[in-house]
Amino acid sequence: MKPIGVFDSGIGGLTVVKELMRQLPAEDIVYLGDTAHLPYGAKSAPTIIRLTLRSLLFLLKQKVKLVIIACNTASSLALEQACRRFRIPIIGVIQPGACKAVNLTKTNTVGVIGTRATIKSKDYEKRIKEINPRIRVVSQACPLFVPLVEEGWLRQPEALSIARQYLSKLRRKNINMDTLILGCTHYPLLKPVLRQALGKDIKLVDSAREVVRQAVEIIDDYCLAAGSKSKGKYSFYVTDDAQSFSRQAMRFLGLRFLKAKQINNV
Ligand code: DGL
Repeated sequence: MKPIGVFDSGIGGLTVVKELMRQLPAEDIVYLGDTAHLPYGAKSAPTIIRLTLRSLLFLLKQKVKLVIIACNTASSLALEQACRRFRIPIIGVIQPGACKAVNLTKTNTVGVIGTRATIKSKDYEKRIKEINPRIRVVSQACPLFVPLVEEGWLRQPEALSIARQYLSKLRRKNINMDTLILGCTHYPLLKPVLRQALGKDIKLVDSAREVVRQAVEIIDDYCLAAGSKSKGKYSFYVTDDAQSFSRQAMRFLGLRFLKAKQINNV
């Protein structure tokens, strides 16, 4: 059976891979991290679209049956073009995260944190308002979070202090917020410091977890399931520095062996 393709600019999409391994353990996965061009969140829309379409083309050549754009930045700016250009099912993280937040909020106020490009696109806001126009959306770009995660600074005091500064800006915009979308697939790795900075009353929406729920539905609807084998095979590709990616991915996914391959011409 064909694999599921997962795409991110770096290691953030591994939060989606981890969920896939948990919810769909029999599925084969091909992962592409466009590490040569990270961060996407600081780039312009045309560049993000161009890089995303090129990366998806690589996954399509691996004969994937479904692609998950496991990057909020790429999902918010390039999903529509990708769906128009390619014939297989392609899903992004914005819609599933938006739906979950709408279901969770009781105060009708949802916060969104993400990269500059994701926040500037207002895609979360649009999708939330399509479902329920009465919901107020407050957002905050957190550009320092991605480098913290890529460097593995997940629990350092510096990470907590940066989180506090960003989140206090967000809270000043609306104190009624009861739900916060982690609108970047890197951010679930910062959950412990985010939790510490926010307190326990705010509900966190992990877009990685929600998109895998949607993938499960698509696989059922299109009868694409991997059959009866018990454990999937995983292949990892990056566009730069395969060694450091392999180390981080192995630690994060709890695998004993993982060797990512570097590809040079996506
Ligand atoms: N993981 C990407 C996202 O979900 C952000 C990383 C980047 O800026 O490249 O938006």
